[in-house]
Amino acid sequence: MDIRVLRSDDIPHVQQTNITNLPENYFCKYYMYHAMSWPQLSYVAVDVSPPQKTPYDPPKIVGYVLAKMEEEPSDGVQHGHITSLSVMRTHRRLGLAEKLMRQSQRAMAETYGAKYVSLHVRVSNKAALALYRDTLGFKVDGTEAKYYADGEDAYGMKMNLDHLK
Ligand code: ACO
Repeated sequence: MDIRVLRSDDIPHVQQTNITNLPENYFCKYYMYHAMSWPQLSYVAVDVSPPQKTPYDPPKIVGYVLAKMEEEPSDGVQHGHITSLSVMRTHRRLGLAEKLMRQSQRAMAETYGAKYVSLHVRVSNKAALALYRDTLGFKVDGTEAKYYADGEDAYGMKMNLDHLK
């Protein structure tokens, strides 16, 4: 498995992975905005077995993290934000999401001087909550009522990045 920075030609494959795994979906231009504005922050996990037969074969994207810097932080503190994270069912519990998140968090701190990283997650999403809270060390910062289109609440979560500088 190869973890590397998101390229613009990955975007249709990442979009497909996102649609397969999550109900929160985005237009191609929103992915492009992330990749062009903060090229160090978004990553893909590529299954390289079997290897590509020709350079024209599409990469087998099995996971991604789409991340950005908050452009006008309401608290005035430079910080990153995880827009979306997912891993294909066939490739879960292999540590891919943890690796994708750690790469992005490191780049937020080192490249953009982010003090912390934030995200939203469904209150019912046990797998993601375990990853964020227990594995990575995020803390719940509050609950946002009816954050999602179907009416479910979100936890707002944050993690300090000072240890990465
Ligand atoms: N149940 C309990 N704990 C879990 C689970 C689970 N199903 N999945 C991961 N974890 C925790 C465990 O502590 C795990 O460590 P362990 O395997 O040593 O026990 C740790 O997280 C690391 O797991 P990874 O293997 O890195 O996680 P994975 O690559 O399987 O991806 C993810 C986790 C992204 C949540 C995946 O299940 C997924 O794609 N789910 C659907 C999409 C989704 O919910 N995305 C997050 C939405 S929030 C947002 O996008 C900001």
